[in-house]
Amino acid sequence: MSGVEVHWHEHVVTQQERELLNSNKGCVVWFTGLSASGKSTIANLVDLKLYQLGKHSFVLDGDNVRHGLNASPNILRESHDDEFAQRFGLGFSAQDREENIRRIGAVAGLFAEAGVIAITAFISPYRTDRDRVRKSLPKDRDFIEIFVDTPIEICEQRDPKGLYKKARAGQLTGFTGIDAPYESPINPEITLDGKKNTQELADEVINYLKEKKII
Ligand code: ADX
Repeated sequence: MSGVEVHWHEHVVTQQERELLNSNKGCVVWFTGLSASGKSTIANLVDLKLYQLGKHSFVLDGDNVRHGLNASPNILRESHDDEFAQRFGLGFSAQDREENIRRIGAVAGLFAEAGVIAITAFISPYRTDRDRVRKSLPKDRDFIEIFVDTPIEICEQRDPKGLYKKARAGQLTGFTGIDAPYESPINPEITLDGKKNTQELADEVINYLKEKKII
């Protein structure tokens, strides 16, 4: 774009200095998995355990972020016009999911720079989108990919929002795992067995963070 210049400013207070103050490293803990696999529940338990340990973390969650930063066209239409909703609202096409993950990755990266453990819980079904976030961070070790490995049959039985049922009935199209793909991670830092108790799974994550000296 001509006439527009944007310059990057280094922070006066460094990430290392902020981490020292917070008594934890800043990083991105990235949960991925099917809808109803348990991502949000485990993410929030990890967040609670970190809080109780006096660490600094924050959860960015699929359903919540899609009400604000990445609001869906339907939500935006309530307070803006149709054109605005079309331009800025994000749905569930591959392209919109890519943009959803790009924005969240950028926000999570800023949290990490602020010395906070950013915990994200999005389906993030495409490998390239997740890998792009990993590569965007200054250090590879700043990205901890956690695959919540829950068989689709179990997710479908849980179906807390009734969305699998709608997708099976053809009332919802492009639903992950039914008629849209989910690409599981090839080499995630952690794989969680989604059939296990969520407290146990959250402890597995906490132990990993201790092992890697993030906390
Ligand atoms: S992602 O694919 O872009 O990462 P995200 O995690 O933000 O998805 O949102 C997923 C949530 O949106 C699901 O848990 C579900 O509640 C809701 N949802 C609505 N439509 C769809 C769809 N077509 N596919 C998957 N999830 C959907």
